[in-house]
Amino acid sequence: MSTAVLVAAVVGGGVLLLMRRLFPTQKAVKLLRFPAGTMRGKTVIVTGANSGIGKALAGELLKLQARVVMACRDPRSAEEAAKDIQKAAGPEQGEVVIKQLDLASLRSVRRFCEEIQQEESKIDVLINNAGIYQCPYMKTEDGFEMQLGVNHLGHFLLTHLLLDRLKASAPSRIVVVSSKLYKYGQINFDDPNSESSYNKSFCYSQSKLANLLFTLELARQLDGTGVTVNALTPGIVRTKLGRHVQIPFLAKPLFYLASLVFFKSPLEGAQTPLYLACSPEVQGVTGKCFANCEEEELLAKATDDQAAKKLWDVSRRMVGLAD
Ligand SMILES: NC(=O)c1ccc[n+]([C@@H]2O[C@H](COP(=O)([O-])OP(=O)(O)OC[C@H]3O[C@@H](n4cnc5c(N)ncnc54)[C@H](OP(=O)(O)O)[C@@H]3O)[C@@H](O)[C@H]2O)c1
Ligand SMILES: *[C@@H]1O[C@H](CO)[C@@H](O)[C@H](O)[C@H]1NC(C)=O
Repeated sequence: MSTAVLVAAVVGGGVLLLMRRLFPTQKAVKLLRFPAGTMRGKTVIVTGANSGIGKALAGELLKLQARVVMACRDPRSAEEAAKDIQKAAGPEQGEVVIKQLDLASLRSVRRFCEEIQQEESKIDVLINNAGIYQCPYMKTEDGFEMQLGVNHLGHFLLTHLLLDRLKASAPSRIVVVSSKLYKYGQINFDDPNSESSYNKSFCYSQSKLANLLFTLELARQLDGTGVTVNALTPGIVRTKLGRHVQIPFLAKPLFYLASLVFFKSPLEGAQTPLYLACSPEVQGVTGKCFANCEEEELLAKATDDQAAKKLWDVSRRMVGLAD
């Protein structure tokens, strides 16, 4: 009995130490507090608002009385999420609008934007949050590698088609959810859809680097318009993002335990995008990347103006915007 307890303690302790090395302790997250009604009268679009960071973020925005457009692939899942956040938001809350958006289909992106143009007289904040991580090789409806297609190209077209409305609503903001894993990526201009070979971690990193380069070039183009665009890296957050990652059956409970201890909760993970969407501190700030509500230093590959310009042109051609 006592030996078993001892063994369990030693093994458990060892696992925790190992996890601590793998997932360096993140700074304790202080939850933001904005005055009630901070977002009253503001319309905010959140992609991927039915799950994880996007859902927590939508919930916080609703509490601050925003009109929250939940742009989601699966309307049923969006409705369930909407019920949850409405229940949690209390009596003085904003409004929820559910809109179908599949970022793996340019047709769907175009239809979504047409509906928004008709139904929303202004857009104060656009939050490009939806993402897919390390899926098996798949292509979007338009033949793009899935991770680049959803994480970058779908959002690229979405942002482009909403820009006039954002400009007309200035001062307005665009918030882009990237990832620190951008560090392991490059933009493979020779084969953006990874047709000659597929490396799922590389492609995720490529798509998240693309998010940062997009932010850089868009900020340059929007200079003087009153529309700002900033990116962020949320840290490691307990969400459904790892759905395509295989964890050996026996390791699952341990992984789950470790995630409870070392990962941010979705609400904690939502703080930096919430900050960028709401805080007066970042009024007028543009073209930056944030982590834990502070400006983050990026590697040179993410601040390369030439690469950003080149990616912009390639993306325009890929989504059919080039003349
Ligand atoms: N969790 C982390 O540790 C972490 C770390 C760094 C960066 N991030 C970034 O954080 C963002 C949010 O991810 P999360 O962690 O909250 O993961 P999540 O719980 O899996 O949420 C991802 C969201 O993206 C949506 N989505 C995926 N493919 C889509 C498509 N084709 N069209 C429309 N929506 C689509 C999902 O919709 P369905 O539910 O319908 O699939 C879901 O709402 C992502 O951009 C991710 O790269 C997360
Ligand atoms: C896949 O890409 C990752 C990230 O860029 C890299 O570390 C890894 O070595 C690559 N794997 C293979 C088999 O090339």
